[in-house]
Amino acid sequence: MSAPNKSYDPVEVEALKPEVVEQARDEAIAAFAAAADLDELKQAKVAHTGDRSPLSLANREIGALPPQAKAAAGKLIGQARGAVNQALAKRQAELEAERDARVLVEEAVDVTLPFGRVPRGARHPLTTLAERIEDTFVAMGYQVASGPEVEAEWLNFDALNLHADHPARSMQDTFFVEAPDGSADSGMVLRTQTSPVQIRAMLAGEPPLYAVSPGRVYRTDELDATHTPVFRQVEAIAVDEGITFGHLKGTIEVLVEKLIGGGLELRWRPSYFPFTEPSAEIDLQCFVCRGASVGNPDRPCRTCSSEGWIELGGCGVVNPRVLVAAGIDPNRYSGFAFGLGLERILMNRHNVADMRDMVEGDVRFTLPFGMEI
Ligand code: DAH
Repeated sequence: MSAPNKSYDPVEVEALKPEVVEQARDEAIAAFAAAADLDELKQAKVAHTGDRSPLSLANREIGALPPQAKAAAGKLIGQARGAVNQALAKRQAELEAERDARVLVEEAVDVTLPFGRVPRGARHPLTTLAERIEDTFVAMGYQVASGPEVEAEWLNFDALNLHADHPARSMQDTFFVEAPDGSADSGMVLRTQTSPVQIRAMLAGEPPLYAVSPGRVYRTDELDATHTPVFRQVEAIAVDEGITFGHLKGTIEVLVEKLIGGGLELRWRPSYFPFTEPSAEIDLQCFVCRGASVGNPDRPCRTCSSEGWIELGGCGVVNPRVLVAAGIDPNRYSGFAFGLGLERILMNRHNVADMRDMVEGDVRFTLPFGMEI
């Protein structure tokens, strides 16, 4: 190893000359002071304290100095760098404070300003009602079944004991679906009732079978205050050993109690449906006047039109011919079924006078029902 160069004069190294070091220091401090924002300060920092800055380069020269010269040079550079770093930290703090103050002003939120409200919709009360009925039946162990709205004629009519020349078939004003070739005989209809889902449920599963099915149905009625070409029904079917009309009555009683409340009478009017035998129509005692409006002109009731009763729907013991059509042995099994009109229940329950309000989709109608009915 060669001896240190004792004749080496540090003052001869240009970068370590005090005036050069001081100039580098002053330029750095001036550059920091001139930085108008944090970005500019960052650039100045790189230029004046980075690896290739004059002071860093000068610092590197110290290594080549003779030992006795190193201390003085180190002190000179160290002091300059200390001053530079101090100036940098000070300017950094100033600019950060300025930025924070500006952000506070610029990003301030005036919570009192009006804002563009996005109006909130509400679920349609018919949907909520259907779900409530579904829930009631699910709680009794029923499955929820569904079927298509474009339905096979066979399922909508024939399998339900409404064969082609059955007089009742023409009672349900049917939308027939055209075949793709334009001929009228596609064998498909818009379902006129949810009863085909009974058949679908029986074909899909074995008894014991308990199914409920809300859905839309279609009939060729003009839309007016009391008719709509599309409306909703809830169908239910129970097929098991030993099912009787008594089970049907008990089930409807539970449903009414859950939907409307207890203590109301039900009236079972003999009726006719090809798919049930015997058949009945179910009336519910008016829950507003409880019959007090009947024959009492001083106390008219809007809910039941002073009839004292509200029609809920049709029901009966499943006709054995229907069980056979669905591949179920009528000697072993029996069943009950019913279909309720949801619009009618809603109209009565909430005094909706005009059916059009229920189908036109105006949010002003649905909003007051909010989240629950
Ligand atoms: N499908 C019938 C209608 O639309 C209602 C009905 C009556 C359904 C009796 C049934 C029933 O399940 O058993 O008028």
